Amino acid sequence: MKKIKKVITTNQFVINYRRMLPYAKPYWKRAVFGLLLTIPVGSLDAVIAVFLKPYMDNVMVAKDAKYTYYIPFAIVGFTMLKGCLAYLSTYINTWVGCKITMDLKKKLYAKLLDMDIGYFDKTSSGHILFRYCQDADMAASGLIMNLKSFFSKFFSSLALIGVLLWNSWQLSIIAIGVLVVLVFPIQIVRKKMKGVATKTANILAVVNTNYNESFAGNRLVTSYNLQQYQKQKTKNILEEVFGLQMKMVQYTNWLSPVMQIIISFGLATVIGYGSILIVNGTITSGNFVSFIAALLMLYTPLKTIGDKFVSVQYSFLAIERIWELFELNPDVKDKPNAKELTKVKKGIKLEQIRFEYVPGVEVVKGIDLEVKVGQMVAIVGNSGGGKTTIAHLIPRFYDVTSGTIRIDGHDIRDLTQHSLRANIATVFQDNFLFVGTIKQNVLLGRPDATDEEVKEALKHAYLEKFVDSLPNGLDTEIGERGIILSGGQKQRLAIARAFIRNASVLILDEATSALDNKAEKVVQKALDDLMKNKTVLVVAHRLSTVVNADKIVVIEQGELLEEGSHEELLAKESGTYKMLYETQFAVKTRKENEDK
Ligand SMILES: Nc1ncnc2c1ncn2[C@@H]1O[C@H](COP(=O)(O)OP(=O)(O)O)[C@@H](O)[C@H]1O
Ligand SMILES: [Mg+2]
Repeated sequence: MKKIKKVITTNQFVINYRRMLPYAKPYWKRAVFGLLLTIPVGSLDAVIAVFLKPYMDNVMVAKDAKYTYYIPFAIVGFTMLKGCLAYLSTYINTWVGCKITMDLKKKLYAKLLDMDIGYFDKTSSGHILFRYCQDADMAASGLIMNLKSFFSKFFSSLALIGVLLWNSWQLSIIAIGVLVVLVFPIQIVRKKMKGVATKTANILAVVNTNYNESFAGNRLVTSYNLQQYQKQKTKNILEEVFGLQMKMVQYTNWLSPVMQIIISFGLATVIGYGSILIVNGTITSGNFVSFIAALLMLYTPLKTIGDKFVSVQYSFLAIERIWELFELNPDVKDKPNAKELTKVKKGIKLEQIRFEYVPGVEVVKGIDLEVKVGQMVAIVGNSGGGKTTIAHLIPRFYDVTSGTIRIDGHDIRDLTQHSLRANIATVFQDNFLFVGTIKQNVLLGRPDATDEEVKEALKHAYLEKFVDSLPNGLDTEIGERGIILSGGQKQRLAIARAFIRNASVLILDEATSALDNKAEKVVQKALDDLMKNKTVLVVAHRLSTVVNADKIVVIEQGELLEEGSHEELLAKESGTYKMLYETQFAVKTRKENEDK
């Protein structure tokens, strides 16, 4: 008894249906109606078995002709009724199932967008696709379908058991006893398959990532002749999937044959003992035929229970994975009483900030920096020093490990993320563009901007002429990630997007580094326009772009080495800035000499 109780409370069935219940709640009337419809659908099975007794006894044994007429009609009539009800019940149950799946996906997507940048750093695209989308399908639809078939099978089983008892209680005891034995193999399978199912889900996420990469990296694959390499990689992954599928079959597919064997023992006993009961006159031949028919109907769905059971387990495991996602807690989140940042009046101040991506590996090591309102401050230094990291800490892509970043005196962790980011426009080296038109991509900066404002922004970004030359102008589709645009045009489109945002703080991170000299000049002009009247933090690789900054800081290996204006820093004997500048300057003069 104790054991049974334990099985029930730790039962995934109970836990997972309880989890899904709130999602079914808004549609409970339809859900209940759909399930109730399965009762007549299930019980009508038994009617046919019931009819077999009078048919056998009166027509076949007693040779009474009057039954011959109505029984065939009754069978067709019942089957038609059953068909209509089955259609209606499937329709309603599917409706409920799809609604629940949709709601679950909406909620999961909202959860995904709540996660911070750090989460996306650690999570693959395939994992996201699988866990946030495919799992929801598996969870809800699987569960509803199985609930429906469980319900209909349950009522049909009840009715059939009724028919069994009506015909012969002695035979019924044997038949029902066999049902109880069937529970044991199911328990064994349940335990075995969980590990394999989890591994399968993980590897399917890898499969997704692999296809995404093959798409996004198609140019690299082509130019570096990586087809063979990619094929080999994909072959390995697919073979691993195959191995897991086979293991799953090994673990689960013995269930059906074993159940059939158990059932065949039941049938054999019933037939043997039933024959004795007929001979000694305890039951009629009609009883016996009707009993066997009902028993076959009862056992048939049980034979497929192995397959059904596997799919229920898949739903359960999907639900468990989904609930893990719901329990995730983003590292960057609003405080309950977070304040709104309206306008930046004084400026930004970094106070002894430290940061580590990986615990124990500090990449920003105690930096102090002030950007007064209206100032332009530049961060320079060799690659890997932590410049981008600092630029990402200000809009709270990550939270500092220690120290404080203040805007107008407020710790940015006390502000709402929304209002903080509404005051900051960013342009990075590689700016994401969405599928859609030029206009739609500019509007992402501020969705309620007018067409005039879009044009104005494009003008400041030096894109006006280009857009005018396109047959569809503003409404030109730019392709996935802006594939039809050149590097400089992509960058200027991102600048137009930052322009229309009209935020008072601007963060530029190597915005021109990926461009050639000519493209850089135009982009730099656009950036100069964009920087007017703004508080600007600019990370730059090319020092020529920062000579006019109010202040330049040199960052190396997470530490601030030098700070001052261009002239002040150049005046430092053997200073790092001076060295950096002279190296770049030397390259430049050499190039110019070569050009001459
Ligand atoms: N998402 C990340 N996860 C872990 N480490 C990172 C991440 N981004 C950058 N780093 C590490 O942090 C250090 C500073 O990088 P970054 O800020 O990009 O330097 P910079 O912009 O000056 O070239 C580097 O050692 C880099 O490897
Ligand atoms: Mg960088």
